[in-house]
Order: sequence, then structure tokens, then C-alpha cells
Amino acid sequence: MSWSFFSRGEPMDESFTAKIIAETRSSRKYRQMDLPEAMLREILAELTAKGGSAAAIKSAFREKLHNIVAPYLEDIDYPAETARMLSFFEGNPSDTEVKTWTANLMARHASTRERLGHLDAFCRALRDIIGSPAVILDLACALDPLLLPWLGLPQEVQFLAYDIHKPRLEFLNQFFLRKYPNARAIHQDILAEPPQHGADCIFFFKEAHRFEKRKPGCLGPFFASLRAPLLVSSLPASDLSGHHSLEDYHTQLITKAAAGRGWDVEKIQVVNELLFVIRKERSQI
Ligand SMILES: C[S@@+](CC[C@H](N)C(=O)[O-])C[C@H]1O[C@@H](n2cnc3c(N)ncnc32)[C@H](O)[C@@H]1O
Repeated sequence: MSWSFFSRGEPMDESFTAKIIAETRSSRKYRQMDLPEAMLREILAELTAKGGSAAAIKSAFREKLHNIVAPYLEDIDYPAETARMLSFFEGNPSDTEVKTWTANLMARHASTRERLGHLDAFCRALRDIIGSPAVILDLACALDPLLLPWLGLPQEVQFLAYDIHKPRLEFLNQFFLRKYPNARAIHQDILAEPPQHGADCIFFFKEAHRFEKRKPGCLGPFFASLRAPLLVSSLPASDLSGHHSLEDYHTQLITKAAAGRGWDVEKIQVVNELLFVIRKERSQI
């Protein structure tokens, strides 16, 4: 069957959807990541609902997916890195050696790398905010879970880390098996399927601005859907060059998301990262 044009508001054609998803999944660019089906479907459904030719929808889909996924792809061969990790842990490394190993890995991902110069200050600020939670969700985690040894949380903490990048999650699960028996890395598009697991606090670091680009207006409902009294959402205070302040723009983004919801919002800055601390009443969860 061939498709040419979809009218605005027309429901998604299942065979068109299945074909594009299968092509994406088997493409050289994405096949290793094994992107969640719910994510591909949601993006495609939104584009199809706007109407247009099949070729235009397909091209817009490719562009959108690229913008979501490509900027934060690191150059780490996860199976090879997992093998190195297994032999590293077989040597019973000390806590200091584990911290050095995690810092070296965090240096290899653009987003965690930005914190390395002030890791202690970042972790101190975060511990002051969160106290000693028993259950933490880390949404759009990338390599954030490697912060755990720096945060000094007990090994028993239940830490659920979500991302869309499967090889990275498999690597994190191997790390958790060795250091954090109650932690788990979960393959899920948290925007298409917001996690419903209850928690004492939720981390959502450096991704809110990109969610807003993917789906304008999504942040308020997304934050509201999460089941924790404390949400810490961070955003960069300036652009990568450090010359252009993003503070006002990012503060407005969070203020708008929280507007009219009765949450308490506080802003704390640690070097180049703005931490928005959002507290909900128990009745608002
Ligand atoms: C900017 S990085 C932030 C990483 C990390 N939180 C940090 O502060 O270093 C974005 C991460 O979010 C993940 N991501 C993007 N969209 C997502 C979604 N809808 N659901 C789950 N993870 C997502 C990407 O795979 C990437 O690892």
C-alpha cells in the first residue's frame, strides 16, 4: 500500500505508522539505541494530526527524532565499557577508586561533564535539598546515576533511573548490580509514559527545556502527573560558551509550568546549573 496525503486531524494510519517505525528501528543511526515504541508512536501521531503529505510527515519525523536524540549521544562503546567495569569491580575497588572511575565516565557525556568542575558543591546542594530519601526517581538520567557514590546515599536507596537509550541503561544496570542492589535503570519515554512510581523525590536534570521544544506546554501537566512531594528540575544558567545568560528564559519556563498549581518553587544556583526545587502538598500528588 502507498500513502500520499493525510488530512488535518485524520487518525494515524496503522500500516503507515508501522512502516516508519520499522524503518527507524532498523536504521544504522538508531538500531543500537532500541528507542521505545511509545515514543516513536507519540511523535508520529502528533505530526500526522497536523496533516500533510506522507513524505513531509516522514521528513518532519526524522528531524524531530534527531533533535531529541542526537545532541546527547556520547562516544561510549557500552558493551566494551561494561566488560571493563566488570573487571574493575572484580578488583574490589575502594570508594575513592569508584568515585574516580565514575568521574572519568561522566566526563565522556556532554551533560554530566559540565558538572565535573563543581561536583562536590553540586552534590552538597542536592543533599541539602533532598535529605535522606528512601526512593528517588531520576528522569532522563543519561549518566546521572554515576553521581550516586558522590552523593553518599546509602546503598539500600531505591533509585529508579529512566532514559530512552538502551545500551546505556544496560550498562547502568550492571553498575547497580555491583553497587546499588535496589537501583534499576528503566527503558521508557517519560513524556509519552510518565512514570507513576511513588517516590520521596524526583530528579529531572537538564531536560525540561528540550521537553518544551518537543511538545510546547507539556511541562506543567508532566510535573503534575509525577507522584512525589519533591521535584528537583535543573536547567543551565547560561549557554555552553558561558557568554549568554539563560537564567530569565529558563526561570520563566518553570514558573509558567508551576503557575496556578499551588506548588512552592525555590531556585538555587550551583555554578552554571539552576536547580528549581518544586514542593507539592501531599494532597497534590
Ligand atoms: C540533556 S541529557 C540530560 C542528562 C542528565 N539528566 C544530566 O543532567 O546530565 C538528556 C537525556 O535525556 C534522555 N531523554 C530525552 N528524552 C527522553 C524521554 N522522553 N524519556 C526518557 N529519557 C529521555 C536522553 O536520552 C539523554 O540521555
